[in-house]
Amino acid sequence: MSNILETAINDAVEMVREAGELLLQSMDDKKVITKNGTANFVTEIDLKVQEILFGKLINLLPDSNIIAEETADNNFALGKYTWILDPVDGTTNLMYGYKCSAIALGLVVEGVPYAGIVYNPFLNEMYTAKKGQGAFINGNPIGVTSNESLSSSLLAFGTSPYDRGKADETFRITKNVFGKCRDIRRSGSAALDICNVAAGRTDGYFEMELQPWDYAGASIILKEAGGRITDWQGKDLTYILKSPAIATNGLIHEELIEAMK
Ligand code: IPD
Ligand code: CA
Ligand code: CA
Ligand code: CA
Repeated sequence: MSNILETAINDAVEMVREAGELLLQSMDDKKVITKNGTANFVTEIDLKVQEILFGKLINLLPDSNIIAEETADNNFALGKYTWILDPVDGTTNLMYGYKCSAIALGLVVEGVPYAGIVYNPFLNEMYTAKKGQGAFINGNPIGVTSNESLSSSLLAFGTSPYDRGKADETFRITKNVFGKCRDIRRSGSAALDICNVAAGRTDGYFEMELQPWDYAGASIILKEAGGRITDWQGKDLTYILKSPAIATNGLIHEELIEAMK
């Protein structure tokens, strides 16, 4: 990895850590602005974190572009260096003081997923990964579980809350899977769901519709932790398109895809 890239990623980690303070402070003052669609919100914190990080990240790498959730007119294209930012993943949790939200950031270099940074300030857990260098929480190495069967798996799922048309299918699939696994969780943060698989805290996770900012940073962390993330056909995610996602320790991946049918 070139020095400029290494330095930029390390600097980005510190920027994300600093911005995490805003999520903690928001516990006292959570102003809500409604976005389009059922249960789809954006708060002042989402906008503030994005504004701060946007300004800083763009200066870290020359010729970089940023795809970010709260940008109205994203150009969904991968350039030389593309940052993919979710300023708050788990906005509804933030509004309720549920303390399960993260800042999620991915870096794709010339089309190759390169670095992931996901910070949960409520647990002071900074997940980081650089291509070929493993995955970490607060600098300590993490890895996926070695569990090989769905019947002994703890899973998580997402409800794709902004597209209620998908609810019937989501709950049909979840019911199928629930009958074949140990138990299922629903956290309200897709990035943390994927990072939980990376950290070996769950064996797998699935959701019918994720946006690139939901999965970009966390999926790089998962891969570096030894896991696997694909769409529901087993294909790689694109980092520019919305997609269904299955994230697992790798070992239960095919069995989970089968069980979802
Ligand atoms: C949402 C959360 C949620 C997931 C949704 C995401 P947001 O992101 O990750 O857990 O179910 O699909 O859109 O809107 O809080 O950034
Ligand atoms: Ca959102
Ligand atoms: Ca999100
Ligand atoms: Ca968000």
